[in-house]
Amino acid sequence: MGNYRIAVLPGDGIGKEVTKGAVEVLKAIETRFGHHFEFAYGWIGGAAVDQKGTPLPEETLALCRESDAVLLGAVGGPKWDQHPPHLRPERGLLQIRKEMNLFANLRPVKFYDSLTDSSPLKQEVIQGVDLVIVRELTGGLYFGKPSGRMVENGEEKAVDTLLYKKEEIKRIVKVAFELARKRKKKVTSVDKANVLSSSRMWREIAEEVAQEFPDVTLEHMLVDNAAMQLIRSPQQFDVVVTENMFGDILSDEASMLTGSLGMLPSASLSASGPSLYEPIHGSAPDIAGQNKANPIAAILSAAMMLRLSFGLSKEAEAVEKAVQQVLAAGLRTADIAQKGQRVVSTDEMVNEIKTAILDHQTISHIMAVYA
Ligand code: IPM
Ligand code: MG
Repeated sequence: MGNYRIAVLPGDGIGKEVTKGAVEVLKAIETRFGHHFEFAYGWIGGAAVDQKGTPLPEETLALCRESDAVLLGAVGGPKWDQHPPHLRPERGLLQIRKEMNLFANLRPVKFYDSLTDSSPLKQEVIQGVDLVIVRELTGGLYFGKPSGRMVENGEEKAVDTLLYKKEEIKRIVKVAFELARKRKKKVTSVDKANVLSSSRMWREIAEEVAQEFPDVTLEHMLVDNAAMQLIRSPQQFDVVVTENMFGDILSDEASMLTGSLGMLPSASLSASGPSLYEPIHGSAPDIAGQNKANPIAAILSAAMMLRLSFGLSKEAEAVEKAVQQVLAAGLRTADIAQKGQRVVSTDEMVNEIKTAILDHQTISHIMAVYA
């Protein structure tokens, strides 16, 4: 039985609803397994701009640093779209990733039998898909300098820079290899080495790291081809490792293999200190506040937290099993519902998942008493 302090940063839009759901599920885990979770809330994103005048207040960062792990919802919304760059909600997210050194973003994509019909792709294509995108999260095109707008000789210009230091590539590729070693032992390193210098260096370093992992196969794939292969034959992938922006794009694409962006969790692991867990989806302003959002990505992110930050595998499995159970029982939020299927609200989905976690307790308790 353990005590854990979790910083909760709901953020904007549906971020608030889905983190609330994930916290409730964590409370069910507390009850069933006898742990103690302390939840401490902080502002981030547009909500933080409104409340504190900055998308990542110092106190939020301090709270996260003092916690054992961070659970984040989503940031952004039309309300802040016209703000200058330093007052945009997304800036808060990028800053927290950088400040906390969250360089390794793991985005697992797993096929659910019961959601076969929710994916726009054919069953034979998505059957058995089980891959992880390892996205570099604190470098590359999102952070390289120079970045910004300027006027030169009367001409308006804008620039972003894709820059990596050798060590940054090495450590993310290592994470991919270590992960692959525990899985199907295959790493696909995705780059654009036919055009970009940074990709050519990435490829060399991936080859170097591969020497330390003779039991793992390394293959290189150009990012345009990878985008196509993810749709053509996604079963070929085990661990995909790639640059920040390539990973952003490919992970949204890959989410459709499961049926919905609302299904994909992620873990952002730190080089030093607490890790952060967040659904890969955004704040979905169009459905925010309507109790319609799919909370599963946030709930599965909480499961990743249990496993990766707290070493609570049994507890993580209990969450994942409960999700599987309610999906198999036909529960569907709007994003994963087929025509004619009954659609449940965020709250209903959360409640059923909680019940699935807690009911088991009753049964195992009875079994223990009568054993
Ligand atoms: C993600 C999101 C973010 C990103 C946005 C909100 C800044 O799309 O986590 O994938 O681009 O990293
Ligand atoms: Mg994204």
